[in-house]
Amino acid sequence: MQFPEEIHFPSLQDAPALENAYSIAMQKGGVGKTVTAICVAAAVARAGRTTLLVDMDPQASATIYFKYLLKAPITESMYNLLVEGKPIKPIKLGRYVSLLPAHVDLAAANQLFAALPTTRELPNRVLARALAPYAPHVDYIIIDCPPSLDLLTKNALTAARYVIIPVSTEEMSEDALPNMLNTVQDVRRDLRNGNNPTLEVRCLLPTLHSAREREANSTLARIHEEYGKDYCIYPPVLRKTKYKKAVSQSVDVGSLDPELAGYWNEFTATMIFQESQVAP
Ligand SMILES: Nc1ncnc2c1ncn2[C@@H]1O[C@H](COP(=O)(O)OP(=O)(O)OP(=O)(O)O)[C@@H](O)[C@H]1O
Ligand SMILES: [Mg+2]
Repeated sequence: MQFPEEIHFPSLQDAPALENAYSIAMQKGGVGKTVTAICVAAAVARAGRTTLLVDMDPQASATIYFKYLLKAPITESMYNLLVEGKPIKPIKLGRYVSLLPAHVDLAAANQLFAALPTTRELPNRVLARALAPYAPHVDYIIIDCPPSLDLLTKNALTAARYVIIPVSTEEMSEDALPNMLNTVQDVRRDLRNGNNPTLEVRCLLPTLHSAREREANSTLARIHEEYGKDYCIYPPVLRKTKYKKAVSQSVDVGSLDPELAGYWNEFTATMIFQESQVAP
């Protein structure tokens, strides 16, 4: 994947959602957003296609995940791209995956987007504008969101054609998913801040699922009952210790376990490449 040396940004008004962009979003913390983003990027790579992984979380979990692969210290990040409007060079993590990294300074963007003359006109559209020049050079853009419904998440939802919403079956708070889905609706309609009427919930993804635990199974059944009519609910990501091992080696879990690679390949084929239907 070759990114151009010279980058030109459109205006905020001329920056629609990107057809090939998927946000991974849920305001509840620790539900597997970052792991999902990384596993999808890896599965896209196994299929020989390219991904730009975009870290929109000031915690920078996706960036830190790859710390063992980084050959040099990170000198520019999403803050420079979004707040300063400076084109930044994606970090190549492999033949098929590049990363636009985050740093804790990105947290300031929440106040700055609404205040800066260059962004305040349509503060939700800043990411869509920033990613527009990169999008034609990759097959897929995967955006990892912070655990909040702040302006960073709203930017991610405005830049993407699709959103994937991970929901942990381990502990599900009653209001997390309704609030998330309301935010998706708001982003679809919010003309004043730069809306995205094309945003589609690709699926709800149950995560951290322990199939032997009764509580987890009843949570999963409840998700199907309450949301199955309106949304696609993908078969759950199982809780496995190998995910922790994968973090400690800066690799995706699929490279440690062929069965888990199979799960993410199937997820990516159906939800990202949209090649087949989910098994009922
Ligand atoms: N299927 C799984 N099995 C076991 N551990 C997992 C699984 N998925 C994620 N984890 C672990 O759970 C923790 C949270 O995962 P992750 O960082 O992906 O969540 P997140 O939603 O991105 O969190 P945050 O909201 O803080 O950004 C991590 O330590 C990760 O390694
Ligand atoms: Mg995360």
